[in-house]
Amino acid sequence: LLAAFTPKSLAGKRVLITAGPTFEPIDPVRGITNLSSGKMGYAIAQAAFEAGATVSLISGPTALEMPYGCTRTSIQTAQQMRDAVFAQIEQQDIFISVAAVADWRVSNASDQKLKKNHAGDLPQLSFVQNPDILAEVAALAKPPYCVGFAAESENLIEYGTIKRLKKNVPLLVGNIAQNTFGQDQNELVLFDVNGHKSLPLADKTSLARQLITAIAARI
Ligand code: CTP
Ligand code: CA
Repeated sequence: LLAAFTPKSLAGKRVLITAGPTFEPIDPVRGITNLSSGKMGYAIAQAAFEAGATVSLISGPTALEMPYGCTRTSIQTAQQMRDAVFAQIEQQDIFISVAAVADWRVSNASDQKLKKNHAGDLPQLSFVQNPDILAEVAALAKPPYCVGFAAESENLIEYGTIKRLKKNVPLLVGNIAQNTFGQDQNELVLFDVNGHKSLPLADKTSLARQLITAIAARI
Protein backbone atom coordinates (compact mmCIF):
# COMPACT_ATOMS: atom_id res chain seq x y z
CA LEU A 1 0.00 0.00 0.00
CA LEU A 2 2.83 2.38 0.90
CA ALA A 3 4.27 1.88 -2.59
CA ALA A 4 1.05 3.23 -4.10
CA PHE A 5 1.65 6.59 -2.40
CA THR A 6 5.40 6.84 -2.96
CA PRO A 7 6.21 9.24 -5.82
CA LYS A 8 7.67 7.27 -8.70
CA SER A 9 11.03 8.35 -10.05
CA LEU A 10 9.95 8.53 -13.74
CA ALA A 11 6.32 9.61 -13.23
CA GLY A 12 5.07 11.58 -16.25
CA LYS A 13 8.17 10.73 -18.34
CA ARG A 14 8.04 9.17 -21.80
CA VAL A 15 10.77 6.63 -22.44
CA LEU A 16 11.70 5.04 -25.77
CA ILE A 17 13.85 1.90 -25.67
CA THR A 18 15.39 -0.16 -28.47
CA ALA A 19 16.15 -3.80 -27.69
CA GLY A 20 17.28 -7.09 -29.16
CA PRO A 21 19.26 -7.81 -32.30
CA THR A 22 18.45 -6.64 -35.80
CA PHE A 23 18.14 -9.07 -38.72
CA GLU A 24 19.57 -8.08 -42.09
CA PRO A 25 18.33 -10.22 -45.02
CA ILE A 26 20.56 -12.02 -47.49
CA ASP A 27 17.60 -13.53 -49.36
CA PRO A 28 13.93 -14.29 -48.41
CA VAL A 29 14.92 -17.10 -46.04
CA ARG A 30 18.39 -16.12 -44.77
CA GLY A 31 20.03 -13.22 -43.01
CA ILE A 32 22.67 -11.83 -40.70
CA THR A 33 21.97 -11.26 -37.02
CA ASN A 34 23.75 -11.46 -33.65
CA LEU A 35 23.46 -13.19 -30.28
CA SER A 36 21.51 -10.44 -28.46
CA SER A 37 18.52 -11.98 -26.62
CA GLY A 38 16.80 -8.68 -25.79
CA LYS A 39 16.69 -9.57 -22.07
CA MET A 40 18.48 -6.42 -20.85
CA GLY A 41 16.37 -4.04 -22.95
CA TYR A 42 13.12 -5.74 -21.94
CA ALA A 43 14.14 -5.66 -18.25
CA ILE A 44 14.86 -1.92 -18.59
CA ALA A 45 11.45 -1.36 -20.23
CA GLN A 46 9.77 -3.16 -17.32
CA ALA A 47 11.78 -1.20 -14.74
CA ALA A 48 10.92 2.11 -16.46
CA PHE A 49 7.21 1.21 -16.40
CA GLU A 50 7.47 0.28 -12.70
CA ALA A 51 9.09 3.70 -12.14
CA GLY A 52 5.99 5.39 -13.57
CA ALA A 53 7.09 6.08 -17.16
CA THR A 54 5.09 5.65 -20.37
CA VAL A 55 7.27 3.13 -22.16
CA SER A 56 7.58 2.41 -25.88
CA LEU A 57 9.78 -0.52 -26.85
CA ILE A 58 11.13 -1.01 -30.37
CA SER A 59 12.34 -4.56 -30.63
CA GLY A 60 14.22 -6.73 -33.06
CA PRO A 61 13.38 -10.45 -33.22
CA THR A 62 13.37 -11.98 -29.70
CA ALA A 63 11.66 -14.89 -27.95
CA LEU A 64 10.52 -12.70 -25.02
CA GLU A 65 7.08 -11.87 -23.61
CA MET A 66 6.07 -8.25 -24.00
CA PRO A 67 6.98 -6.32 -20.81
CA TYR A 68 3.84 -5.54 -18.80
CA GLY A 69 2.37 -2.09 -19.41
CA CYS A 70 4.67 -1.22 -22.35
CA THR A 71 3.89 -0.68 -26.04
CA ARG A 72 5.98 -2.73 -28.46
CA THR A 73 6.82 -2.17 -32.12
CA SER A 74 8.49 -5.19 -33.74
CA ILE A 75 11.00 -4.64 -36.51
CA GLN A 76 13.66 -6.70 -38.28
CA THR A 77 16.27 -4.45 -39.88
CA ALA A 78 18.33 -1.52 -38.61
CA GLN A 79 16.65 0.77 -41.15
CA GLN A 80 13.20 -0.29 -39.88
CA MET A 81 14.39 0.33 -36.29
CA ARG A 82 15.61 3.78 -37.30
CA ASP A 83 12.27 4.64 -38.96
CA ALA A 84 10.30 3.39 -35.92
CA VAL A 85 12.51 5.44 -33.57
CA PHE A 86 12.18 8.64 -35.60
CA ALA A 87 8.38 8.23 -35.88
CA GLN A 88 8.22 8.67 -32.08
CA ILE A 89 11.34 10.53 -31.02
CA GLU A 90 9.88 14.03 -30.73
CA GLN A 91 7.47 12.99 -27.96
CA GLN A 92 10.19 11.35 -25.84
CA ASP A 93 11.90 12.53 -22.67
CA ILE A 94 14.44 9.69 -22.51
CA PHE A 95 15.93 7.42 -25.22
CA ILE A 96 17.68 4.24 -24.08
CA SER A 97 19.47 2.51 -26.96
CA VAL A 98 19.98 -1.07 -25.78
CA ALA A 99 19.61 -2.80 -29.17
CA ALA A 100 22.52 -4.63 -30.75
CA VAL A 101 22.06 -2.94 -34.12
CA ALA A 102 23.83 -4.58 -37.06
CA ASP A 103 26.62 -2.26 -38.18
CA TRP A 104 26.31 -3.42 -41.79
CA ARG A 105 23.58 -4.74 -44.07
CA VAL A 106 23.84 -6.73 -47.28
CA SER A 107 23.60 -4.28 -50.21
CA ASN A 108 22.95 -6.95 -52.83
CA ALA A 109 20.29 -9.01 -50.99
CA SER A 110 18.37 -11.26 -53.38
CA ASP A 111 14.59 -11.25 -53.93
CA GLN A 112 14.81 -14.97 -54.68
CA LYS A 113 16.27 -17.71 -52.52
CA LEU A 114 19.90 -18.22 -53.49
CA LYS A 115 20.48 -21.68 -55.00
CA LYS A 116 23.66 -23.73 -54.89
CA ASN A 117 23.58 -24.41 -58.61
CA HIS A 118 27.14 -25.39 -59.30
CA ALA A 119 29.74 -26.89 -57.04
CA GLY A 120 32.09 -24.16 -55.87
CA ASP A 121 29.68 -21.37 -56.99
CA LEU A 122 29.67 -19.19 -53.84
CA PRO A 123 27.37 -16.24 -53.10
CA GLN A 124 29.16 -12.90 -53.35
CA LEU A 125 27.81 -10.63 -50.61
CA SER A 126 28.51 -6.90 -50.48
CA PHE A 127 27.88 -4.70 -47.45
CA VAL A 128 26.96 -1.09 -46.67
CA GLN A 129 27.03 0.56 -43.28
CA ASN A 130 23.71 0.97 -41.41
CA PRO A 131 22.58 4.32 -39.98
CA ASP A 132 23.84 4.92 -36.43
CA ILE A 133 20.46 5.43 -34.71
CA LEU A 134 21.80 6.58 -31.35
CA ALA A 135 24.27 9.04 -32.89
CA GLU A 136 21.48 10.49 -35.08
CA VAL A 137 19.16 10.93 -32.09
CA ALA A 138 21.93 12.49 -29.98
CA ALA A 139 22.64 14.96 -32.81
CA LEU A 140 19.04 16.31 -32.88
CA ALA A 141 18.62 20.00 -32.04
CA LYS A 142 16.58 19.07 -28.93
CA PRO A 143 17.48 15.46 -28.14
CA PRO A 144 15.80 13.47 -25.38
CA TYR A 145 18.11 12.40 -22.52
CA CYS A 146 20.16 9.74 -24.37
CA VAL A 147 21.54 6.57 -22.81
CA GLY A 148 23.80 4.39 -24.95
CA PHE A 149 25.11 0.89 -24.44
CA ALA A 150 28.46 -0.57 -25.38
CA ALA A 151 29.13 -4.29 -25.63
CA GLU A 152 32.88 -4.75 -25.82
CA SER A 153 34.98 -7.90 -25.88
CA GLU A 154 37.91 -6.23 -24.06
CA ASN A 155 39.30 -2.88 -22.77
CA LEU A 156 35.83 -1.93 -21.44
CA ILE A 157 36.89 1.11 -19.41
CA GLU A 158 38.96 2.62 -22.21
CA TYR A 159 36.48 1.86 -25.04
CA GLY A 160 33.46 2.91 -22.93
CA THR A 161 34.99 6.26 -22.06
CA ILE A 162 35.80 6.93 -25.73
CA LYS A 163 32.43 5.67 -27.02
CA ARG A 164 30.43 7.96 -24.72
CA LEU A 165 32.29 10.98 -26.09
CA LYS A 166 32.10 9.76 -29.71
CA LYS A 167 28.31 9.21 -29.48
CA ASN A 168 27.93 12.49 -27.58
CA VAL A 169 25.58 11.01 -24.92
CA PRO A 170 25.45 11.98 -21.23
CA LEU A 171 25.30 8.36 -20.04
CA LEU A 172 26.79 5.21 -21.54
CA VAL A 173 26.38 1.71 -20.11
CA GLY A 174 29.26 -0.67 -20.76
CA ASN A 175 29.33 -4.43 -20.52
CA ILE A 176 31.40 -7.34 -21.75
CA ALA A 177 29.65 -8.91 -24.76
CA GLN A 178 30.60 -12.50 -23.92
CA ASN A 179 29.11 -12.07 -20.39
CA THR A 180 25.76 -10.59 -21.40
CA PHE A 181 24.43 -12.00 -24.69
CA GLY A 182 21.69 -14.48 -23.78
CA GLN A 183 22.49 -14.45 -20.04
CA ASP A 184 20.11 -13.69 -17.13
CA GLN A 185 22.84 -11.92 -15.13
CA ASN A 186 25.36 -9.27 -16.06
CA GLU A 187 27.79 -6.65 -14.70
CA LEU A 188 27.56 -3.04 -15.89
CA VAL A 189 29.81 -0.01 -15.89
CA LEU A 190 28.15 3.44 -16.05
CA PHE A 191 30.16 6.14 -17.82
CA ASP A 192 29.25 9.80 -17.45
CA VAL A 193 30.96 13.18 -17.37
CA ASN A 194 32.33 12.41 -13.89
CA GLY A 195 34.00 9.12 -14.84
CA HIS A 196 32.80 5.55 -14.39
CA LYS A 197 31.06 3.45 -11.73
CA SER A 198 30.51 -0.34 -11.62
CA LEU A 199 27.23 -2.13 -10.94
CA PRO A 200 28.39 -5.58 -9.78
CA LEU A 201 27.10 -8.95 -11.02
CA ALA A 202 23.33 -9.22 -10.55
CA ASP A 203 20.12 -10.32 -12.31
CA LYS A 204 19.21 -8.17 -15.30
CA THR A 205 15.97 -7.25 -13.48
CA SER A 206 17.98 -5.80 -10.58
CA LEU A 207 20.50 -4.07 -12.87
CA ALA A 208 17.64 -2.57 -14.89
CA ARG A 209 16.14 -1.07 -11.71
CA GLN A 210 19.54 0.31 -10.66
CA LEU A 211 20.01 1.82 -14.11
CA ILE A 212 16.56 3.46 -14.02
CA THR A 213 17.43 4.91 -10.59
CA ALA A 214 20.71 6.24 -12.02
CA ILE A 215 18.90 7.82 -15.01
CA ALA A 216 16.17 9.35 -12.83
CA ALA A 217 18.85 10.94 -10.64
CA ARG A 218 20.42 12.60 -13.72
CA ILE A 219 17.37 14.12 -15.44
N1 CTP B 1 23.83 1.84 -32.12
C1 CTP B 1 22.82 2.37 -32.92
N2 CTP B 1 22.84 2.20 -34.27
C2 CTP B 1 23.85 1.52 -34.85
C3 CTP B 1 24.89 0.97 -34.06
C4 CTP B 1 24.85 1.15 -32.69
O1 CTP B 1 21.89 3.00 -32.38
N3 CTP B 1 23.85 1.37 -36.16
C5 CTP B 1 23.80 2.09 -30.66
C6 CTP B 1 23.66 0.86 -29.80
O2 CTP B 1 22.30 0.59 -29.53
C7 CTP B 1 24.41 1.27 -28.54
C8 CTP B 1 25.51 2.19 -29.06
O3 CTP B 1 25.04 2.66 -30.33
O4 CTP B 1 23.60 2.01 -27.67
C9 CTP B 1 26.86 1.59 -29.19
O5 CTP B 1 26.80 0.45 -30.00
P1 CTP B 1 28.14 -0.38 -30.27
O6 CTP B 1 27.84 -1.45 -31.26
O7 CTP B 1 28.75 -0.75 -28.96
O8 CTP B 1 29.07 0.77 -30.90
P2 CTP B 1 29.40 1.19 -32.36
O9 CTP B 1 29.35 2.69 -32.40
O10 CTP B 1 28.56 0.47 -33.36
O11 CTP B 1 30.93 0.79 -32.52
P3 CTP B 1 31.62 -0.69 -32.63
O12 CTP B 1 30.53 -1.72 -32.82
O13 CTP B 1 32.53 -0.55 -33.79
O14 CTP B 1 32.35 -0.85 -31.31
CA1 CA C 1 28.32 -1.84 -33.40
